[in-house]
Amino acid sequence: MSHGWRRELAGLGFVERGENAVLLGPPGVGKTHLAVALAVKAAEAGHRVLFMTLDRLVGTLMRARQENRLDRQLQQLTYPKVLVLDEMGYLPMTREEASLFFRLINRRYERASTILTSNKSFMDWGEIFGDQVIATAILDRLLHHSTTLNIKGESYRLKDKRRAGLVTTPTTKEDETSHAPDPGPMSAD
Ligand SMILES: Nc1ncnc2c1ncn2[C@@H]1O[C@H](COP(=O)(O)OP(=O)(O)OP(=O)(O)O)[C@@H](O)[C@H]1O
Ligand SMILES: [Mg+2]
Repeated sequence: MSHGWRRELAGLGFVERGENAVLLGPPGVGKTHLAVALAVKAAEAGHRVLFMTLDRLVGTLMRARQENRLDRQLQQLTYPKVLVLDEMGYLPMTREEASLFFRLINRRYERASTILTSNKSFMDWGEIFGDQVIATAILDRLLHHSTTLNIKGESYRLKDKRRAGLVTTPTTKEDETSHAPDPGPMSAD
């Protein structure tokens, strides 16, 4: 298994170059955990960092537009060298919300790093944004300079429960494979 992503992300080279990181995987595998760890590292290195859920970001942008201060809000959200956007994909966006998100990504593109976590693979992003054209435009900018990490394995949350005997462990070999198809906890492009 390649650990190039570890040097790439933890070394913060991507932050210095204004590149992005996308952390993908099912619930509970540690996406937020890793995004926060990277943000803390960046802050310790002296970078300005901001953490928000995507839902919160969209609310902030929609309110700013209603109050006629969208441009200033977008500018403010472009200052942080690292912007962590957590939980993309759990809540769908309207087209209007997606277009505001696009404007932010466009502003930050090639200037500052965005770390994004999502439970949805890129193929399903059209569904999140309710518009394939906007989804493609967002992905195009986001992925141009980026490291994608596909985190596999089972949920840490369920692992704890399993250890406490609250969830039964699959017994057959077949069941095991269907629950945890990948032996390693992480893999990356
Ligand atoms: N590498 C790790 N070692 C030990 N515990 C971990 C690790 N990564 C995550 N955890 C713990 O597992 C739980 C789930 O992790 P986390 O919240 O990061 O998952 P997630 O991928 O963001 O899930 P979701 O998609 O539901 O938001 C948390 O309590 C977290 O502290
Ligand atoms: Mg999370």
